[in-house]
Amino acid sequence: YMNYRVPRTRKEIFETLIKGLQRLEYRGYDSAGVAIDGNNHEVKERHIQLVKKKGKVKALDEELYKQDSMDLKVEFETHFGIAHTRWATHGVPSAVNSHPQRSDKGNEFVVIHNGIITNYKDLRKFLESKGYEFESETDTETIAKLIKYVFDNRETEDITFSTLVERVIQQLEGAFALVFKSIHYPGEAVATRRGSPLLIGVRSKCKLSTEQIPILYRTCNVENVKNICKTRMKRLDSSTCLHAVGDKAVEFFFASDASAIIEHTNRVIFLEDDDIAAVADGKLSIHRIKRSASDDPSRAIQTLQMELQQIMKGSIISSLRGRSVAEDHGPHLCNFSAFMQKEIFEQPESVFNTMRGRVNFETNTVLLGGLKDHLKEIRRCRRLIVIGCGTSYHAAVATRQVLEELTELPVMVELASDFLDRNTPVFRDDVCFFVSQSGETADTLLALRYCKDRRALTVGVTNTVGSSISRETDCGVHINAGPEIGVASTKAYTSQFISLVMFGLMMSEDRISLQNRRQEIIRGLRSLPELIKEVLSLEEKIHDLALELYTQRSLLVMGRGYNYATCLEGALKIKEITYMHSEGILAGELKHGPLALVDKQMPVIMVIMKDPCFAKCQNALQQVTARQGRPIILCCKDDTESSKFASKTIELPHTVDCLQGILSVIPLQLLSFHLAVLRGYDVDFPRNLAKSVTVE
Ligand code: F6R
Repeated sequence: YMNYRVPRTRKEIFETLIKGLQRLEYRGYDSAGVAIDGNNHEVKERHIQLVKKKGKVKALDEELYKQDSMDLKVEFETHFGIAHTRWATHGVPSAVNSHPQRSDKGNEFVVIHNGIITNYKDLRKFLESKGYEFESETDTETIAKLIKYVFDNRETEDITFSTLVERVIQQLEGAFALVFKSIHYPGEAVATRRGSPLLIGVRSKCKLSTEQIPILYRTCNVENVKNICKTRMKRLDSSTCLHAVGDKAVEFFFASDASAIIEHTNRVIFLEDDDIAAVADGKLSIHRIKRSASDDPSRAIQTLQMELQQIMKGSIISSLRGRSVAEDHGPHLCNFSAFMQKEIFEQPESVFNTMRGRVNFETNTVLLGGLKDHLKEIRRCRRLIVIGCGTSYHAAVATRQVLEELTELPVMVELASDFLDRNTPVFRDDVCFFVSQSGETADTLLALRYCKDRRALTVGVTNTVGSSISRETDCGVHINAGPEIGVASTKAYTSQFISLVMFGLMMSEDRISLQNRRQEIIRGLRSLPELIKEVLSLEEKIHDLALELYTQRSLLVMGRGYNYATCLEGALKIKEITYMHSEGILAGELKHGPLALVDKQMPVIMVIMKDPCFAKCQNALQQVTARQGRPIILCCKDDTESSKFASKTIELPHTVDCLQGILSVIPLQLLSFHLAVLRGYDVDFPRNLAKSVTVE
């Protein structure tokens, strides 16, 4: 938040920052922090004060008022403060790991970051070799140190703040939205993004100089990029900047989500990837390195049609790929009655976040930073064993076939408890994956220790940084789905699924024979968020189905191949929150027993997708209808065959076979939710169950 020629007391500045953080709390948080000017802006010797606290924003708020050196009444004519709530991705939740991260003990540069830097280990090694000392476990601290390194090694004294940032981001891989503050550039702000959303709110009582900010394009050759570019930014003239006319008062708000700033202004600019926005002397300019001739030459100020009242806990404001839904389709704010429902609807965004900074859709490559140093060893292994419980186990079942195909290795999937009961043989050249949302599940953790004792390489796939599983494994993947609060797991499942597929894609990068298949899957991944939105739009139809079914005692869910896991997962969702009996049945096993359950009365859901098992599923359908069953069929939109035999169909968009399970599970998540609500149960806290099962 920056005020320019708008006198504000420190208390008002705090309140703006803290309120902004509170508006973002619905995304989850484990710590928070602010960086503000320690002295009056007029004072020559500048200093930045950092206050960081583990826990809720409220704890940070209380801490701010405890600080002796903070005169709350002191007034700043120009002031730039940054604040951040963190949901850990690298390093446990703690004050030192929270943001802003700093360049050194003198707080010369501070930065806040949303996203993941995948090459931070290499950068950290480089900076440590140059004598920079690190204090946190975060990827973000690397950015703070890197900007100081660029500054310390600048070739001229008058280098601009934005030039420094430009040089820094040329070294970064992964996803980021960043805002920088520095004692060397008092009253100046620089922000940039790649893959993570970032917008700028503008408020001024005076007219603004422009409604379209022209982009300042610069060229930079490849060699320079590699060597920390030597190009320099020119001082800007007013015609390329946004400011209040006559250099009057103006306030700028940088945020990753409009909800943080909407109470101050509804006039916003959405930054595009690699834009660098700089504010100096109350003037905002945007520049970028020219990549293609079709680049948009300006950024417009847009007016959001969004009311403050709409922003409340339980709302989702999707900001997929940095474009808010408000921008694309007008405000799309839904209020949810339960965390589970909110989490189901977050999936377009959570699956995108899982891929963010990892899947490069231009080059068809995948980079999982946490595994890259172990890739050679994994490629040499005897077999992969994927271990989990409940939903996490189902994510392993769902991806087994594509992992076998892409890695060309034998893949075992194991329920942790059973794996231990059997004293399963494990060898030192096995690679064992531990899939767990919480990272604390006792059975999975014990299985991990069991495999470690046998010297296998262990890989964590968790949603919780600092959890026991993420600490005790040799390496891992953070699924980055955001906090999951509803006891019934939903968005973690789809993100686990995608994480395992990404692993398979990374393993197969150099297999010539698999290139077409890889491209097909990567294209499928790219379109998933949009297709998930399409599936979510079926909610009303699924609610109607729930109305027909909620008084039943039992519900069978059948399918096979890539969609067998959907049946297991759908049945688990139904039993755990509706308390109905439900069974996921492999359609190939039907005549070996389960068919005896089928009659006129028994509700049956069949998952029949257009994939290599389609004909066999038709067989199963015939077996069910021959026993007078009238199944409800989840099928693809273009399937005219299955619907002939259905009592009802739910038609889904089609995607590549190995990803179809992500789309087919969502109607069952929604169905279980509506069944539970209609039956009058507490969806988020089902009886007898806990979110984290830390006992055997
Ligand atoms: C079902 C569910 C559980 C968990 C299982 C493992 O909705 O949430 O089946 O999947 O208890 O938990 P994590 O993934 O935390 O190891």
